[in-house]
Amino acid sequence: MNRWTGFYAEDPRVLSAPRSLCSEYAAVEFKKLNCRFILDLGCGVGRDSFYLASEGFNVFSLDSAYTGLVKAQSLVPTDRGVKFRLIHGDALALPFPDACFDGIYCFGLLHEFLPPDCDQAVEQVIKEASRLLRNQGLLVLAVLAGDPTAGLPHVRLFTRKMTNFEDYGLKCMEITKYHDIGCTGSNNYLVWRGLYQKIIK
Ligand SMILES: C[S@@+](CC[C@H](N)C(=O)[O-])C[C@H]1O[C@@H](n2cnc3c(N)ncnc32)[C@H](O)[C@@H]1O
Repeated sequence: MNRWTGFYAEDPRVLSAPRSLCSEYAAVEFKKLNCRFILDLGCGVGRDSFYLASEGFNVFSLDSAYTGLVKAQSLVPTDRGVKFRLIHGDALALPFPDACFDGIYCFGLLHEFLPPDCDQAVEQVIKEASRLLRNQGLLVLAVLAGDPTAGLPHVRLFTRKMTNFEDYGLKCMEITKYHDIGCTGSNNYLVWRGLYQKIIK
């Protein structure tokens, strides 16, 4: 259970939020490397998952907030041929075998982990993401940017340095700070957007 469990049950804004700009970027990058199987980690009500599925990817969408998944289920596009699955699970212990995804998309999850265990939790999610990516697979990540203490107790913002995951076999190919569209539809959602490639040495 996390704070989103309540939001998804009560906040109507999550139902009408447009897809993020990051999802469009991810679709372009995933296509360049012929990625087919994509995990949307912390998918919420699925706004970005649906877009990625409509772009032809085979999308597995996972979240720990059951209320969000119920909303997602009610919003699933009816177009034929859209390949999309919803999974209730925890990003800290992902229910998939090693190297089974070509790409992982993760918008707005990592800043949700709060002190005192946030460093270990972020490390564990990144280890899991790295484990699930095939060699040369891609991670597209977006996380709120700023002073780590400024958003507490709700979120822990990330500095540029905190977006380095080289120790986990994820080489940063590109990192940009910009305003995206958050999952409640706000367009002043300042994020680091990172593109990482899994490199097995
Ligand atoms: C800021 S919302 C982003 C939702 C979605 N990516 C979007 O942009 O619409 C963060 C999401 O992370 C999910 N979450 C938080 N902790 C999680 C965990 N341990 N495992 C999986 N999902 C988690 C929340 O339930 C919520 O849906």
